[in-house]
Amino acid sequence: MSGDIAGLTAEALREIARAEDARAIEAIRVKFFGKKGAFAEAQKALAALPPAEKPAYGARLNDARKQIEAALGERAALLEKAALSARLLGESIDVTLPGRDGREGGLHPLTEVSRQIFRIFESMGFAVFEGPELEEEYYNFDALNIPPYHPAREEQDSFYVGSDRVLRTQTSPMQIRVMQRFQPPVAAISPGRCFRRDAVDATHLHTFHQVEGFLVDKGVTMADLKGVLTSFAQRLFGADTKIRFRPDFFPFVEPGAEVAISCFACHGKGCRTCRQSGWIEIGGAGMIHPHVFTAVGYDYETYSGFAFGMGIERMVMKKYSVPDIRMFYENDMRLIGQFR
Ligand code: PHE
Repeated sequence: MSGDIAGLTAEALREIARAEDARAIEAIRVKFFGKKGAFAEAQKALAALPPAEKPAYGARLNDARKQIEAALGERAALLEKAALSARLLGESIDVTLPGRDGREGGLHPLTEVSRQIFRIFESMGFAVFEGPELEEEYYNFDALNIPPYHPAREEQDSFYVGSDRVLRTQTSPMQIRVMQRFQPPVAAISPGRCFRRDAVDATHLHTFHQVEGFLVDKGVTMADLKGVLTSFAQRLFGADTKIRFRPDFFPFVEPGAEVAISCFACHGKGCRTCRQSGWIEIGGAGMIHPHVFTAVGYDYETYSGFAFGMGIERMVMKKYSVPDIRMFYENDMRLIGQFR
């Protein structure tokens, strides 16, 4: 019987040395120490021995069990350590690798240029006011000296909401709102979305942006208007930019002018950007009409002022050679990505 124990121990130690993972270790443990394992058999043999032989056999059996258990424990610990270092090796990070570029966002070209425009006017002392896109007919038309029979009021040009409110067709109603709140001197700009029932094409959308500006004080003249617009245009489009006024009509100014800048692409010689004319129209302007002053309670004998309104999409299109106004709203990254 004692030879059996030695053989059993040797067999167990051989198997343990060959075990490659925790499952193999567990299988060995069951094989030798399980209910039907080799040691259970040996235990039965012990019971059948004559009493004189029992103590010695029992002691050897115990020693063998301890030896095998120690070997199992050692091997299990070794395997665990090896598995851990293999895992750590697999997960290791090479901190010397160059980083991957993150995807960087950017401002929309309209936002970017709008901010440039605000900065320019703010530096000249103009305050910025934003107003409602859904506007009362009174502010969008009546107070701006646009009488009820004026074509701009007809439904084909405006989106009416109910009977006396419209999606503002221009930012000019903000002249009224700001003048109602402040006494002269006042200088303000007001940017924002405007809406018109225009047929959509490469240069027209039903939704677009304008920036309104106006200044009221004693002794303000058209020369002041031209000076302000000239220095604005020179900062946005280039230092040699000139401003051209041509007579135009807007009910809320007198006299009124169409505003154009000299073409920054060809410097007035004529090219595709300016359609061979040398000039690019950017908006309308003029001296604020006495009826407008009366509507807000300003005395037109004491004060005078100028106002202008410019299309932001138009300016961005010209500045960056964007051929079609619809591109601003298609969110094509090939366009937007250029403005990061
Ligand atoms: N509101 C006018 C337009 O939308 C532009 C303008 C503003 C003209 C201020 C004169 C003075 O066409």
